[in-house]
Amino acid sequence: MSRVHKKGGDSDHGFDRYEYYQKSVQSAETDVEFYRDTYKDLRGKLPITFREDFCGTFALSCEWVKLHKEFKAIGVDLDPDPLVYGQERYLSLLTKDQQSRLSILQKDVLSPHLPKADLIVAANFSYFVFKTRVRMKEYFARAKKSLNRDGVFIIDCFGGSLCQDGNEESTKHKKFTYYWEQVDFDPITHRAHFYIHFKPNGKKKVERVFSYDWRMWTIPELRDILEEVGFKKTTVYWEGTKRDGTGDGVFTSTNVGEACLSWIAYIVAS
Ligand SMILES: C[S@@+](CC[C@H](N)C(=O)[O-])C[C@H]1O[C@@H](n2cnc3c(N)ncnc32)[C@H](O)[C@@H]1O
Repeated sequence: MSRVHKKGGDSDHGFDRYEYYQKSVQSAETDVEFYRDTYKDLRGKLPITFREDFCGTFALSCEWVKLHKEFKAIGVDLDPDPLVYGQERYLSLLTKDQQSRLSILQKDVLSPHLPKADLIVAANFSYFVFKTRVRMKEYFARAKKSLNRDGVFIIDCFGGSLCQDGNEESTKHKKFTYYWEQVDFDPITHRAHFYIHFKPNGKKKVERVFSYDWRMWTIPELRDILEEVGFKKTTVYWEGTKRDGTGDGVFTSTNVGEACLSWIAYIVAS
């Protein structure tokens, strides 16, 4: 572990905001299995080195090194606060051997000369932070350059008619309620602002614990840019649907999506 200096840790919201975040929006254990299996299906071998761009508390990297005794992970994020939290709360739970295969860099994902990897992942739509085509192209080109031979780049994406307007949805968890609010959507720029709020049971709702200023990119726009920077093939993995109409968490490759109110998909570039 290196290059993380600022003291981070729990927020001053009266609860652990990263713990609530992890319980609400992350499923790191199953996500890393999807990344590994998708690479293996494409390349017929296992990916060894995993780079988690925009890693935050680097939960995926921690799960990656647990998957196999040879797997290595590198997490990259600008913000020391989640990185320090990850060091204190997640890294410390790993064995010495697992820790020795994980490294963290407090850097911009656009920095030149980031470590190379077999698999690079940008999860939870973090790359939507790039608002122009020029910036997005720069990021994808750097990711492409950072891949080892036979490397694969995986990004997730979300959309649907619901995301073209303000709305708020809530999910009840054991100790708290999670709220995902979209405040606005500008059809001209596709810019949108989002907030995560939490309401611990029996306490007041705490507003704007996390905030995001994103451009809502579309799958065809992203695929075009990925192809322009030299990826030979892009494949979309679409989520299946449960009987109640919600997503079932199982993603399969397809050429045809479904016009849902809101959807999540992966784009796999190889
Ligand atoms: C939505 S969080 C995602 C965290 C994590 N990937 C996850 O799955 O929950 C976005 C993260 O991207 C980081 N970030 C934003 N711009 C960045 C950049 N240019 N380079 C590196 N990290 C960046 C932020 O510091 C933040 O931790």
